Amino acid sequence: MMMTNDATVAAESNLLHVEGLTVRYGAGPVVHGISLSMASGAVVALLGANGAGKSSTLRAIAGLEPAEGRVHFDGKEITRFTSAQRFRSGIVYVPEGRAIVTDLSVAENLTLGSYFVDSTTRERRRQMVLEFFPEIANRLKAPAGLLSGGEQQMLAIGRGLMSGPRLLLLDEPSLGLAPMLVARVYERLALIQKEQKLAALLVEQSFHAAAKLASRAWVMRHGHIVGELDAQALHGREGRQRAIDAYLGARQHEPSVNQA
Ligand SMILES: Nc1ncnc2c1ncn2[C@@H]1O[C@H](COP(=O)(O)OP(=O)(O)O)[C@@H](O)[C@H]1O
Ligand SMILES: [Mg+2]
Repeated sequence: MMMTNDATVAAESNLLHVEGLTVRYGAGPVVHGISLSMASGAVVALLGANGAGKSSTLRAIAGLEPAEGRVHFDGKEITRFTSAQRFRSGIVYVPEGRAIVTDLSVAENLTLGSYFVDSTTRERRRQMVLEFFPEIANRLKAPAGLLSGGEQQMLAIGRGLMSGPRLLLLDEPSLGLAPMLVARVYERLALIQKEQKLAALLVEQSFHAAAKLASRAWVMRHGHIVGELDAQALHGREGRQRAIDAYLGARQHEPSVNQA
């Protein structure tokens, strides 16, 4: 009988499979040979404090930072793919801090996300994005820089959706937003995820924001994955508190409101 290699099986059966990913900026590594796998349609969170290496991990998966290790996507090794090739394969990074082009109009920003698709597809996706985010639908001609923080985040996500992604890499979509806007952005993300069966790797510092969307989470500290949370730990009250205590420290507490 032929021996099966676990890593090979994982690479073939998962939408994303990352093995031994290491990122360094000059000196020592900031991401230390991490491995992770996710299934298609899944939303998994990557949690951790500021500086843990979350953005570096996402950016390396998107091909935006040089990295060691291997990356498989949809059964294919894409380790040597450039960021543009990964983008075309369906891996779309939505950067933290709402990196939209502020001088361009809302409509132009959306077009940037779909420069390589035909105009019919582009128009169809644009309609879809504007249905998800009606807030930006009547601001199409406005310079993106004039949008509010929440609207800019919606535009950044909308621009990502314009390319027809298979895996969204969402870097702190809640960053800098008021709690009410975080709730709104997450509500739309949940809708998009449900309708499009889109897989997402979601980076957050906030456990509670991530738990709204993710069915599983990894906890990252100092460039290592130090824990994994299942649905129960994310959504059950007791499991949640245990996870927060164990991994995320005393700063994050159960919110006292909205608890039945
Ligand atoms: N372009 C860069 N050049 C040098 N160091 C960087 C760069 N980007 C991030 N770092 C450092 O790498 C570490 C991890 O950063 P990052 O991946 O942004 O963490 P996180 O997203 O979890 O806050 C931090 O110590 C940060 O200062
Ligand atoms: Mg970051």
